[in-house]
Amino acid sequence: MKLTAKSVALIPIIATVATAAIGATLIAPPVANAATTLAAAAQQSGRYFGTAVAASRLSDSTYAGILNREFDMVTAENEMKMDATEPNQNQFSYGNADRIVNQARSQGKRIRGHALAWHSQQPGWMQNMSGTALRNAMLNHVTQVATYYRGKIYAWDVVNEAFADGSSGARRDSNLQRTGNDWIEAAFRAARTADPGAKLCYNDYNTDDWSHAKTQAVYRMVQDFKSRGVPIDCVGLQSHFNSQSPVPSNYQTTLQNFANLGVDVQITELDIEGSGSTQAQNYQRVTQACLAVARCTGITVWGIRDTDSWRASGTPLLFDGSGNKKAAYNSTLDALNAGGGPGPTTTTTTTTTTTTSNDPGTGGCSATVSLNQWNEGFVATIKVTAGSTALRGWTVSTTLSNGTVTGSWSATRSGNSGTVNWTNVDYNANVPAGGSTEFGFQGSGNGSGLNPSCTAR
Ligand code: G3I
Repeated sequence: MKLTAKSVALIPIIATVATAAIGATLIAPPVANAATTLAAAAQQSGRYFGTAVAASRLSDSTYAGILNREFDMVTAENEMKMDATEPNQNQFSYGNADRIVNQARSQGKRIRGHALAWHSQQPGWMQNMSGTALRNAMLNHVTQVATYYRGKIYAWDVVNEAFADGSSGARRDSNLQRTGNDWIEAAFRAARTADPGAKLCYNDYNTDDWSHAKTQAVYRMVQDFKSRGVPIDCVGLQSHFNSQSPVPSNYQTTLQNFANLGVDVQITELDIEGSGSTQAQNYQRVTQACLAVARCTGITVWGIRDTDSWRASGTPLLFDGSGNKKAAYNSTLDALNAGGGPGPTTTTTTTTTTTTSNDPGTGGCSATVSLNQWNEGFVATIKVTAGSTALRGWTVSTTLSNGTVTGSWSATRSGNSGTVNWTNVDYNANVPAGGSTEFGFQGSGNGSGLNPSCTAR
């Protein structure tokens, strides 16, 4: 967001109005030029704001209207699970998942894939399998589904909920776990091979409190995977909160500690039961915690209206049953617009945005970069714009003199320092004349001087 002398002068007035509207306890006054949707507000810091979507609700115009307006990331609530996508062994069924994927892509939204391997929601034929047959069936499932959606998914929940609740810190007992402790890493390797451009996440619940045994156990697994080169890029914290499981005081610490392992963190299924200003404050705290952690790349809420929720009676979402914005919506939006919070615990973040471009010429393309740089790393978002002729494919060359790429999305990379070339993935190859598309990457070190140049293919 840009602050001018005139807009800064408006802040106290707007802050007073907002405080009166949603309670005196909110500490993040909105700023002038504030974004007016969750997605736009999150994009100001290079993050996304997503929601779970049910295919059966897409025909509801209120639901679809809010979805299209407010969110830029979509997770299929049930339609990409094992029972939905492989109802009979080796017979894959993508109809409902495709409805969600196609709707999201037609609106320029990205997609989180949920979930490739899970002890729950297995199709009947898989539930009674064991041993090598089950391991192979699971790997085949991961390979087939990730291949089908290759290039279309921002991040996969490769494995979901594989750790036990309680104080044991053990893996959850399941038919998959009984195939051998290495089933999780086997699933991640299969997913990487099948969809090399997607971020690969481990996703779980009750992993929000840093002091809990389950959180510690997941942390140790991710640490182990990173040390042995198992391909993992992100950790998803589902973050289903209610009075029995409130937002922990050390939530930001948990996010930061996972991020410090060299993975992104994502809040993947956020809902917080309650109402009014208490619920609004909790949403604000969660949002601020993500914003304070440089590698917390986005937040997804688990549904749109309270009545869409798997916990509808707890009214845990941002819109009421009629589609009206709740106090929790306002506090979340304000927190996103404030763009800060207390700041990272281990690094001092300084954000600068620089833009460079090259001449599109007549039939070619141009590339501009928006850079978010902090002490030890950066996120670069590159916008590719077609010239006077539509693109059917493109390559962007960047120069990374003092840094190393650690992750990327929506492009295929060659090299990770020095000259790094980026080529479209299938869903963003076609760009209409004068239109544009984006891809991005994060890295360690200094991302300045990328000087992107675009070539039509
Ligand atoms: O669509 C059928 C309907 O035709 C049938 O009449 C009805 C009878 O029970 O079932 C309907 O399907 C239900 C489906 O939700 C759609 O509403 C399933 O029974 C029910 O099991 C399913 O629940 C989903 C649950 O995952 C299954 O594990 C919830 O919608 C979904 O929100 C929930 O999501 C999970 C995440 O995947 C993982 N993390 C926890 C989260 C919440 O439980």
